[in-house]
Amino acid sequence: MTISNDDELVALKEIGRIVANTLETMGAAIEPGMTTAELDRIGRELLEKAGATPAPELCYDFPGATCISVNEEIAHGIPGERRLAAGDLVNIDVSAEKGGVFADTGASFAVPPVARTIDRLCRDGRRAMWAGIRQVGADKPLAGIGRAIGKFARKNRYTLVQNLASHGVGHSLHEHPTEIATWPNSSERRRMNEGLVFTVEPFLSMGARWATDSSDPWTLLSEPRAPTVQYEHTVVATRNGPLVVTLPG
Ligand code: CO
Ligand code: CO
Repeated sequence: MTISNDDELVALKEIGRIVANTLETMGAAIEPGMTTAELDRIGRELLEKAGATPAPELCYDFPGATCISVNEEIAHGIPGERRLAAGDLVNIDVSAEKGGVFADTGASFAVPPVARTIDRLCRDGRRAMWAGIRQVGADKPLAGIGRAIGKFARKNRYTLVQNLASHGVGHSLHEHPTEIATWPNSSERRRMNEGLVFTVEPFLSMGARWATDSSDPWTLLSEPRAPTVQYEHTVVATRNGPLVVTLPG
């Protein structure tokens, strides 16, 4: 979606705050021994109370209110009976709709106690996302995002998953512009028009380069298997740079 009036921005900010608060509360609720279905239920109730509809169900008939991916699972994990344990890397992706407007956010959390390398991976995953977000602004090249994230990953000796791209969002969960690379892509020539709404969601890894299918139709796995994190915000490209709408508040 491209923001063309104040009402649209107000609605986007509202659903952005709702998904951000839901993600924050779910992350804080993670405890060893709980199932991912229990964690999803917390998210579903928060979204419902805020008058929002889970986007994965609404748009794709996904079997859950949120996507919860553990360890070798890196995206689109189905909430279920899997129990969280100390040292697990848990990715929660929350997307929802209210008043016809969608927002999308995600984060990885490590269940303590955690190895130092995993703590560092989580911190650096956020830094990689912000390196990309800093490249957002009206008339700027979309390729700048992947270039900045690629530079960060190379400098800090990480890999990037190169087949899970960022995407336009707003009128739907995934829309124009699609396939925004969070890795260097020299064939990308598009620019961000003023008011364009999209996600920035790099997958930073200690070795994985691809997401591959699993035995169920949803869950994607790291390939080669390696600790992988994802952090995601929904942003608006403005004359003054990035406007991040998925901050808790
Ligand atoms: Co997401
Ligand atoms: Co997304």
